[in-house]
Amino acid sequence: MSSSANITYAYLQDNELQFVPPESFRKEAEIKSLDEYRRLYRYSIENPDAFWAEQSGLIDWHRNWKKVYSGNFAEGEHKWFVGGKLNVSYNCVDRHLNTWRKNKAALIWQGERRDDFRVLTYNDLWNKVSRFANVLKKWGVSKGDRVAIYLPMIPELIIAMLACTRIGAIHNVIFAGFSAESLRERILDSGARLVITADGGIRRGAIVPLKDNVDKALEHCPGVHTCIVVRQAHADIDFWTHRDKWWHIEIKAPDIKTDCPPEPMDSEDPLFILYTSGSTGKPKGVLHTTGGYMVYAATTMKYIFDLKDTDTFWCTADSGWITGHSYVAYAPLALGATVVIYEGLCNYPTPDRYWQIIERFKVNIFYTAPTVIRSLMREKEEWVNKHDLSSLRLLGTVGESINPEAWLWYHRVVGKGRCPIVDTYWQTETGGIIISALPGAISAKPGSAAMPFFGVEPVILDSQGNETSENSEGCLAMKRPWPGLMRGVYGAPNRFFETYMSVFPGYYFTGDGARLDKDGYYWLLGRMDDVINVSGHRIGTSEVEGAITEHSDVAEAAVVGYPHVIKGEGIYAYVILKKGVQESEELKNTIRQCVRRVIGPIATPDKIQFTEQLPKTRSGKIMRRILRKIAAGEFEQIGDITTLADSNVVDELIKHRQP
Ligand code: WT7
Repeated sequence: MSSSANITYAYLQDNELQFVPPESFRKEAEIKSLDEYRRLYRYSIENPDAFWAEQSGLIDWHRNWKKVYSGNFAEGEHKWFVGGKLNVSYNCVDRHLNTWRKNKAALIWQGERRDDFRVLTYNDLWNKVSRFANVLKKWGVSKGDRVAIYLPMIPELIIAMLACTRIGAIHNVIFAGFSAESLRERILDSGARLVITADGGIRRGAIVPLKDNVDKALEHCPGVHTCIVVRQAHADIDFWTHRDKWWHIEIKAPDIKTDCPPEPMDSEDPLFILYTSGSTGKPKGVLHTTGGYMVYAATTMKYIFDLKDTDTFWCTADSGWITGHSYVAYAPLALGATVVIYEGLCNYPTPDRYWQIIERFKVNIFYTAPTVIRSLMREKEEWVNKHDLSSLRLLGTVGESINPEAWLWYHRVVGKGRCPIVDTYWQTETGGIIISALPGAISAKPGSAAMPFFGVEPVILDSQGNETSENSEGCLAMKRPWPGLMRGVYGAPNRFFETYMSVFPGYYFTGDGARLDKDGYYWLLGRMDDVINVSGHRIGTSEVEGAITEHSDVAEAAVVGYPHVIKGEGIYAYVILKKGVQESEELKNTIRQCVRRVIGPIATPDKIQFTEQLPKTRSGKIMRRILRKIAAGEFEQIGDITTLADSNVVDELIKHRQP
């Protein structure tokens, strides 16, 4: 059955919409049928060592590994490609120089202003990465040192990451939307001694004061001796000559050579740290190592994005997040793609910004988030139709489940019914995509992330930790390790085990709920812990609560997520003021500003409700389940409140709910 004139391959099965890969795509695809996927999947599970040994050939090794895997998964230990030596910048840059790709565009950068764009070939990238690696060395960075990177989406961000990997330094990219306080926390936790930033980012024509934030953060980071500043926004900044160095001057300094031999790194040497929020405590520094991460990123790129050598790939994620590590930098460059990066918003100055860029650079594979699709589908379709999007071959989404309505719009209006869509499920911790359709082999069901990637074995557990069978709903966990799975939490040796491996002994617990249907498709149901997914970004409720209570008028706060049409989830804060403080709209605004200052704009509460009391058990635990139901307006489903110390609080909260 066809749901629109130009979609001929949609059909309904058991009342469910499925989209079969178009024949033209399937013919050219790496994996061409469901059977072929199943065979290779079974092989990857029954013979993981053989499967991963073959995939490791996607990467060049300085010294071959001796053993594919060793470890004790239940204890939270796993090593991959043991004994191997490799260098990531070599794999992403140097190895392309002896091929036709030498003068191929590696990075195409588009700035917010239409006329701002730059193209770097692989040879240019090699030149810049090598020189900047020598700059890092000159300022005392050596193998194993941590480097903090706080940059907007400009080529220097990718160059800085690659330069770190070239000399074996461990980068810690901090999203440029985070505040000075968040930055300081991450610099201190990682022990970075050098910071790379810009004089400013550009957002809606205004300057984001990145350097000012760094200056504030570094007031309390005595260990940082050097700050390298990219001149980007031409902003007016303070410059401390003993500490601050201009990127453009350093990289051209007479003592800086282009020759910088890539450091052979052990497979298990740390590659990077990336902080992410959990349900409790401070953000964790998720640690990824070199060999397994690279093999996993490259393998997923090859099969899930079905990358061809001539493809121009655009993943809209910022490299401040894991998606921008694995699928902006490492995987596409390792495979020699042309990568588009864009410093700007999807709807500025007009809502066709993304479509303009796709047309201009003839993007073949486009990877974005459901929240972006939802916000762009509110605009008139003419904004899309004005542009020639015929270069598109494949579409992808990531960050949260995509609602079928947004999926269908993406498919029909952007993909013109021609392009398969891969809904890719993964996490900062997993290094790369772990559940997704393969675009030429697995039909898409809108809203489902489809099937496990090779070597990944998901299970649905009930609350007792028993494995359940198909058509069941429960906790999504992984039964075996794969090369991209994080190795640990930086600076907290037991925290990986405690956070992920001890909830259900023997399994890696994702924190997500999921359902497995009769056809073997996984449907993600959202976080089961106190993590809110705002526009595909993870925000810990306890962090937001901590930020709100930094406001001097606030006594206590409880934060929950609620359904939000664009963001997926919005942030709803219940706030108890100190005795004698008057409630006002202005106070709400200063509380919001306080959160922006402490964490950053992404954590700003959408709704604030003042209250005298929070629903607590007799032992004093806040019952967030009740707060979530009230925030969502689901008063009928509040459920059992008999364990509350004072059940009147529920009526009070409902009465003053923020619409
Ligand atoms: C959480 C991980 C790694 C990509 C960006 C987010 C949610 C991610 C999907 C998807 C349903 C998804 C999960 C996960 N999530 N992708 N395709 N379908 N949910 O990385 O910040 O580490 O967040 O994002 O809840 O646990 P992250």
